Amino acid sequence: MAKEKTIYVCTDCGAETPNWAGKCPSCGAWNTLKEVKLAAGRSKAKTKVPEEHDIRPKKISELSIDREIRFATGIPELDRVLGSGAVVGSLNLVGGAPGIGKSTLLLQMCGAADTDSKILYITGEESERQIKLRADRLHVKSDRLYVFAETDLDDILKAIDTLEPDIVVIDSIQTISDASVPSTPGSMTQVRECTMRILRITKEKGLTVFLIGHITKDGTIAGPKILEHMVDCVLYFEGERDTSFRILRAVKNRFGSTNEIGVFEMDTDGLICVDNPSEVMLSGRPEHASGTCVTCALEGTRPILAEIQALVTANPRNNASRRSNGIDYNRAAMLLAVLEKRSALPVGNCDTYINVVGGLYLEEPAADMATVLSLASSYLDRPVGDKLAAIGEVGLSGELRQVSALNQRLSEIARLGFTRCVIPASGKERAENIPGLELIPVRNVSQAIAAVLGKGQKDS
Ligand SMILES: Nc1ncnc2c1ncn2[C@@H]1O[C@H](COP(=O)(O)OP(=O)(O)OP(=O)(O)O)[C@@H](O)[C@H]1O
Ligand SMILES: [Mg+2]
Repeated sequence: MAKEKTIYVCTDCGAETPNWAGKCPSCGAWNTLKEVKLAAGRSKAKTKVPEEHDIRPKKISELSIDREIRFATGIPELDRVLGSGAVVGSLNLVGGAPGIGKSTLLLQMCGAADTDSKILYITGEESERQIKLRADRLHVKSDRLYVFAETDLDDILKAIDTLEPDIVVIDSIQTISDASVPSTPGSMTQVRECTMRILRITKEKGLTVFLIGHITKDGTIAGPKILEHMVDCVLYFEGERDTSFRILRAVKNRFGSTNEIGVFEMDTDGLICVDNPSEVMLSGRPEHASGTCVTCALEGTRPILAEIQALVTANPRNNASRRSNGIDYNRAAMLLAVLEKRSALPVGNCDTYINVVGGLYLEEPAADMATVLSLASSYLDRPVGDKLAAIGEVGLSGELRQVSALNQRLSEIARLGFTRCVIPASGKERAENIPGLELIPVRNVSQAIAAVLGKGQKDS
């Protein structure tokens, strides 16, 4: 019997090495090399995507290519995240927490996709009956949709060969196994080998494949990091357990931007695209409350209003705790330091909690001003006002800096009925006059707190 080969793969960068080491020789990460057993006779070269063997480098101007062909998935928010539809011949990975709605999203796509050819939904987790029940509940009716409950990769590839579908959904990559790989389904070896073979058939046949992937406790897709390197797009489906809203975001996209997000609402009839995410993000906002301020974030091309909440409470034990949800922890810590140093609000010794409502993650510094106002509002226990929004990046000197697409943000703020908006004084000239929206240009954090919350001293 031929011997199986053992290699070590870095879970961070995907580098392979024949010997184990504490440190990855490629990326330098510690304790990331994991043992992977390759089946006898399956060499690395064999699992590579076959390409024409032409060793002559070509001039880029001589290369002739067709523009990528896309098709509408029939789900506008999914199309938006993929970049105007799915690309024919692409391998896409959709990850998300258990029960978030991954199977629902892709089954709905199977029913709605704008294509004349066959679609194959492969399930390794549920029976064909369960899929049929779900399809009925979601009103997915299509003569082009085929279901195959199977976990063996060879049988799956045979089914693809026979049926010749254009779109394939595999639910999920962790349940599929290659019989020639001596390892359990879901193990790193299996996930890696199966994805390699699926990648090969995707590119050979020009299929559009959606893989569903489970995520681990720390929120990343279970399996080697190399999985994310192999596929063309990686989408994460996220949401908070107690709300029906779901956010789809691309963390990798070889055919488009990764800035766009898709917003959905989970209903008994399935996922519904949310056309006006700002309204959703602000629904249920408490009135006349302190510790909340609204900002306008730019998610890709779309301005979305977001509510930032803060809770600042005295900590007499001098061991202040800080939590930040929806805003980078280090950014939040910086803003607290600026607030203490530049506007004389002694928040450093307070317990501080920041939360962005609705599961949004605000990466943009344009949300700084609203975060600072929310913190100051909670500390002073004075509301900023229900009809006030704030935009602006806060610098280390407490100065307020310009943001991109100011007028687009102001229009969205006015559209949602806000009547006042704090903006950087340096952006005043650029700001268009929008009837009904009073602009409050400020130079720094102190000015903003004075203008919105009073003179900035805690009421005694
Ligand atoms: N009968 C129903 N009525 C309303 N909503 C339902 C119903 N059945 C399921 N759901 C919703 O669908 C969600 C499960 O969706 P789905 O099975 O697509 O998730 P998933 O991400 O594929 O889960 P898993 O990780 O278990 O595969 C549930 O959490 C629930 O919100
Ligand atoms: Mg599922």
